Amino acid sequence: MIMPEKLAIVRTVAELRHAVAAYRATGRTVGLVPTMGALHEGHVSLVEGALARGDVPATSIFVNPTQFGPTEDFSAYPRDEAGDFAKLEAAGCRIVFAPAKEEMYPAPMLTTVKVTGVTDGLCGPFRPGHFDGVATVVSKLLMMAMPDRGYFGEKDYQQLQVIKTMVRDLAMPIEIVGMPTVREPDGLAMSSRNRYLSPAERTTALQLYREMNTVAQKVRDGRSSCSEATASSSKALLAAGFDKVEYLTVVDAESLQPVETVAGPARIVAATRLGRTRLIDNIAVD
Ligand code: PAF
Repeated sequence: MIMPEKLAIVRTVAELRHAVAAYRATGRTVGLVPTMGALHEGHVSLVEGALARGDVPATSIFVNPTQFGPTEDFSAYPRDEAGDFAKLEAAGCRIVFAPAKEEMYPAPMLTTVKVTGVTDGLCGPFRPGHFDGVATVVSKLLMMAMPDRGYFGEKDYQQLQVIKTMVRDLAMPIEIVGMPTVREPDGLAMSSRNRYLSPAERTTALQLYREMNTVAQKVRDGRSSCSEATASSSKALLAAGFDKVEYLTVVDAESLQPVETVAGPARIVAATRLGRTRLIDNIAVD
């Protein structure tokens, strides 16, 4: 069968499964890129990652209400379906699954997927229930599409570890691929929420990446312990105009447990508040 060289927009699980099965029938593998829309170059790089591995890229767009807290930005979360479809088509995506809430949650959910351990720290305590919402919706999306691979950005590093842990523990026959964070030319990590930043906040926001690099240099050189370096950079962020540093810490890259000296793969992870925007970022330090 010759598959159409354009983006198929599907709204139901049945249509999604049909579209995936049609590609599978031609011997192709499928890579799913789950998103909440408001797509930027970071999302496009995930589609490109799927193409580079030979997968037919499929993207889902669904602003998942169950992963937002009651005071979080669910209703304000940016939505631009037509713009997203155009970006996906240009990137070479072949299927986009954009379900209504009733298609994702046709009945009250009596099942929750809960990943422990890697959710105990970092964003976990600041966003109660968030990772349950993520793990549950990602399980649903993976079961709906049954892709060969799932592509997620390292920008949401804790989320990536949650999903890898879930897929391993539940023996889902899907490879999870983590893709590098895409940054603006000045270093700010791309995020759909960056559009909430005022011009002045956008300038201040840059300091986050700079301070994470300062921490990385200090702990690599052995000039400071991890806690000394992160304490000093947290102060610098508050002095630069951040309203809050929820955490800035160095953790083991897999368990996400805090480390005091870097002896193996580690990650500098941060969550901050700047005006009404919550900014998270992370970088590797080995
Ligand atoms: O990273 C996101 O955009 C969301 O958390 C995800 C993985 C699509 C689940 O809703």
